[in-house]
Amino acid sequence: MCGIVGYIGPRQAYPIIITGLKRQEYRGYDSTGIALINPTLKVYKKKGKVAELESAILGEDVKGNIGIGHTRWATHGEPSDRNAHPHVSASGKLAIIHNGIIENYAQLKTELLKKGYQFNSDTDTEVLLNFIEEIKNNTNCSLEEAVRIALKRVSGAYVILLLDQDHPDTIVAARKGSPLVIGIGKGEHFLGSDATPMLEYTKEVVYVNDYEVAIIKADELILKNLGNERQTPYITKLDMELAAIEKGGYDHFMLKEIFEQPQTIYDCLRGRLDAEAGTITMSGIQKYADQIKNANRIVMVACGTSWHAGLVAEYIFEELTRISVEVEYASEFRYRNPVINKGDVIIAISQSGETADTLVAIENAKAKGAIILGVVNVVGSSIARVSDAGAYTHAGPEIGVASTKAFTAQLAVLTMIALKIGYEKGTIDRDRYLRLLQELDAVPGKVAEVLQSHERIKEIAEKYKDAKDCLYLGRGYNFPVALEGALKLKEISYIHAEGYPAAEMKHGPIALVEETLPVIFVATKDSYHEKVVSNMQEIKARKGKIIAVINESDQLSPTLANDVILVPEADEIIAPMISVIPMQLLAYYIGVAKGYDVDKPRNLAKSVTVE
Ligand code: AGP
Repeated sequence: MCGIVGYIGPRQAYPIIITGLKRQEYRGYDSTGIALINPTLKVYKKKGKVAELESAILGEDVKGNIGIGHTRWATHGEPSDRNAHPHVSASGKLAIIHNGIIENYAQLKTELLKKGYQFNSDTDTEVLLNFIEEIKNNTNCSLEEAVRIALKRVSGAYVILLLDQDHPDTIVAARKGSPLVIGIGKGEHFLGSDATPMLEYTKEVVYVNDYEVAIIKADELILKNLGNERQTPYITKLDMELAAIEKGGYDHFMLKEIFEQPQTIYDCLRGRLDAEAGTITMSGIQKYADQIKNANRIVMVACGTSWHAGLVAEYIFEELTRISVEVEYASEFRYRNPVINKGDVIIAISQSGETADTLVAIENAKAKGAIILGVVNVVGSSIARVSDAGAYTHAGPEIGVASTKAFTAQLAVLTMIALKIGYEKGTIDRDRYLRLLQELDAVPGKVAEVLQSHERIKEIAEKYKDAKDCLYLGRGYNFPVALEGALKLKEISYIHAEGYPAAEMKHGPIALVEETLPVIFVATKDSYHEKVVSNMQEIKARKGKIIAVINESDQLSPTLANDVILVPEADEIIAPMISVIPMQLLAYYIGVAKGYDVDKPRNLAKSVTVE
């Protein structure tokens, strides 16, 4: 996601835009830029945060009463000056900023290249702008008309703001799938991805709807649909303060990011998974599909939560591709002298793409001839650059130190890779492949369903917030989920917690069990379920307090557990993306109940770029 800002009115646009961009940096901070008209179109943009842009254009002519600004979270084209927004059209007269993904941009670009267009960036946005200009020039129509015609051919998500040097009194905007707020002032209008840029100027806002085009002048706001029919702007009153808006109305970024997961998992699957057609499209992986299929082994290399994603992937890859998988802590893998054979495939998993141990581990492996695939969230990050190929998780900026939405996005990407390779290799039949595609497609809806139990989970959190120790138990695909649950609790509430394979309890840890010990079972219906329930009975017999994450059809566990959290059924391969949600919420609510800063836990950093 990116942040967009716009202004038109009697004030100087630049201060309003630059401040608005700073307030929206939580939406992305790879690169920033602004466009002003005074009287010609001026564009200033660069890689880096808003403050870097600000110092880079000190002394430049930034006067003007109309302007747009953008802070980027890269999806197409790595972070760089040339890929920063705003983009300028071939004629040099139009400028655009965009938040979203134009899924059919490659086809549009091919058409424009044939017409002699040249491009200065790798972005889908520049393609859209020149497509709009091509229409405007060919049909000699207004900018707003050209935008409407162009958007009828565009698939994907967008919010766009455009300036036309020949019409310095108008901003044209449109949205589908990405947010756009217009602040209504007296003889002036403000635009933003959220309301933060306009808070001190107006509390009256219009939330633009999908498929609407806005034509904004200082003293006039016109809304139309793509069929050129006037729409009535619905003005609402803002009642949130700045801090609350940046967090989308949630108390913390961590909670916001937990609740974003139906959307972020959908964004991760979008354009790749087509359950109806039975296809998985991953260009980055396709190039190496043969090497992966023929690999003797795959090594997952990561740290922390990403390492847990690798552990889930071990079960998934071995089940679906029958390729031997090892999961390595990057910090261990880089320092011992691991055996790396040419053709080994290393999958580096990282939200930040900057974790030092993971980065060096894959550099070492690459030097020994391994193929490196990156499953990374931050586009253009160091790990993404070192990787030979890979797939971005498209989870958007993860601000909370505790990784939540990045984890489920990693699982979605890794599951798609395993399904793609397994099916192409023939190690899973078409029926199972299609069924799992349907199951994967249904995950956003099932995650949304689990999130509805947040009040119940909050009650459970209140009950156990004073525990001194906790055990998290699971088997098979849910064993790594138990580990992840324990890590979340540790890093957010500072309670000592340990994840363990449920069957391992009898080899020592069961000595810990007593009345004051909460034991969280991740016990969704799968091929291990009966065994997990027996483990629950062992804990019950020793008076341990049991919190069980189970499916509704499970009649037995509720007779053993002190507290139950229900999650929708799913194939065991898919279940971790769903059963982890209560783990995240439990840790969050316990941390909040204990009064801790859950977004910035003590001793932790969002990205561990040191060894
Ligand atoms: C997880 O909640 C932690 N913040 C931490 O374990 C994190 O997963 C680990 O540092 C790896 O970071 P990365 O995914 O950015 O490489």
